[in-house]
Amino acid sequence: MSLPEAFKDELRARIPLSDIIGKRMKLTRAGREYKGCCPFHKEKTPSFTVNDVKGFYHCFGCGAHGDSIGFLMNHDNMSFMDAVEQLASMAGMQVPKSTPEDERKYKQQASLYDLMEAAAKYYEQQLHDVKNKKILQYLKERGLSLETIRSFRLGFSTPEEQGLKQILLKAGFKTDAIIEAGLFKKSTKNQNDIYPFFRARVMFPVLDIQGRVVAFGGRVLPERYGGPADKSAPKYINSPETAIFHKGRMLYGLSRARKAIGDGEPVVVVEGYMDVIALAQAGFKAAVAPLGTALTEPQIQELWKVMPPDKRAPILCFDGDVAGQRAAGRALERIFPILKPDHSAKFAFLPAEHDPDSLIKDEGVPAMERVLKNAIGLFDMMWKEEEKDRNMSQPEAKAGFRAGLEKRARQIADMTVQQFFIHEINQKVNEVFLSRSSAKGQTSGKPFFKGKPVQPGVHSPYRPNSVRAEPVKSKKLRQSDRVRILLALMIHYPELYEEFGEDFGTIEIANTEYDHIRQELINLLGEQNSLDYQAVKQHLNESGHGKALETIFDASLYLHAGFAKPGQPFDVVRQAWRDVWEIGFRNARMA
Ligand code: UTP
Ligand code: MN
Repeated sequence: MSLPEAFKDELRARIPLSDIIGKRMKLTRAGREYKGCCPFHKEKTPSFTVNDVKGFYHCFGCGAHGDSIGFLMNHDNMSFMDAVEQLASMAGMQVPKSTPEDERKYKQQASLYDLMEAAAKYYEQQLHDVKNKKILQYLKERGLSLETIRSFRLGFSTPEEQGLKQILLKAGFKTDAIIEAGLFKKSTKNQNDIYPFFRARVMFPVLDIQGRVVAFGGRVLPERYGGPADKSAPKYINSPETAIFHKGRMLYGLSRARKAIGDGEPVVVVEGYMDVIALAQAGFKAAVAPLGTALTEPQIQELWKVMPPDKRAPILCFDGDVAGQRAAGRALERIFPILKPDHSAKFAFLPAEHDPDSLIKDEGVPAMERVLKNAIGLFDMMWKEEEKDRNMSQPEAKAGFRAGLEKRARQIADMTVQQFFIHEINQKVNEVFLSRSSAKGQTSGKPFFKGKPVQPGVHSPYRPNSVRAEPVKSKKLRQSDRVRILLALMIHYPELYEEFGEDFGTIEIANTEYDHIRQELINLLGEQNSLDYQAVKQHLNESGHGKALETIFDASLYLHAGFAKPGQPFDVVRQAWRDVWEIGFRNARMA
């Protein structure tokens, strides 16, 4: 939309540029101008000037130059219209609209914004009123500082909540508008009666990208803070859709996060209001959340739009449980069609019993950092998803797997990205399924590889972070002990073969008896994939390895390797395998 020059001139004239810029950086007066260190490049001596009369800023160092609109666009990373609208509202001006219909709508919306702002202020006051100090205490007990509470403008709606109606009516808002805003509802008994929608709830104002209050989320109080005893009340209720609130397109926390996002801080998309707040308080400034629904396509687009062009890969956080993985799978499917060059996303998984808020509270910021660091990319996520529930022992199953990957890639509308995905699929599939069939150490004549291509790795987010394997750190272990440990692990946990069979096939073991056991295991497990450890042991005993087994499992084994006992968490076992392998066998093949 283009705006009349006269309107823009008026806008520049009404708000001194130094006001806008001075709020965002330190300016000092220098004659008729202001000076400061340029926010657009690194410098120690100020070469950035602001001229209120002309309404322009200029940097003699890097050449940055523009007016108030340009400054907001470049510094706060705003779109043109968002910048214009923000300035217009500061100046008390109305952005010209083309039709009377637009005009009417604009006015109506403008008053809705005012109404929501008034309500937010009211709820805030209630929260900080001494008579509700118990509610404030609840938030503090959840770990929120007063500063955080204020900065997110949290509030409280009292149980009766008649005060709000009076305040809004007194401020000149009409009953219709109060209803339209979703704050009150018409009583079914008496149409003239209205009752408050939010009662006895902690209020989370939802701001649009320009920082205007457009909706609320209201959280029920826990019982000991006066909340309902029965658990049937929904934990959160949210404002209905209105002319200014479109929940599928907005993200909680985006307006606050915007500056940090523009500065290139990693964008973290989480599930809940409390998660955004806890993350922000812990220093993850670019955290946002959808509003009680799964992440939508317009929300992803919105994020990409405000992220620096070379960093467009928001980290989507999911619970580590089955539901979380399923949600991640759906997010993956939603993103594929809209992928474009340099537009991406990552997937991070939380320990099953935590959300970001509780993780930070219980295990600290480093735990959250670890979760984010372990995020995986789209390609790996796709591989992981396609691999799920497939048994790829047979060639035709492998072919089916490849076809599944390709089908996913074809969902990508952008042909360049699609081609790169297809190319990468071919390359990886070949690498994993085909090219290593002649791998060294093959003794059984059967392919070693049995399903499970490209493993998620020790630090994979799919490993529940809560289970921390005891790392096998000791480099002092003798190599012969390591051999025993790997054999013991493979015998007690035959399911390891699916993932590590290939590695197992390449180990060279000096002790011939042990090496025979290894070969016997390859033959057996390559053939049958659902044996339990007792069946494996029985088989080894019956094929004449009983004596050697005893020496593997003599009591000293568990001194170094308690994890090799049956019945350990598989996650720990898997990590242990990797640790032993890394130290003892990865490079040195000879044992
Ligand atoms: P959660 O149940 O994970 O809430 O729902 P939370 O944010 O962690 O809150 P606490 O820690 O229990 O206080 C995640 C999000 O789903 C939406 C809300 O947006 C919430 O923040 N939600 C949840 C609803 O809209 N309605 C509900 O009944 C529950
Ligand atoms: Mn929570």
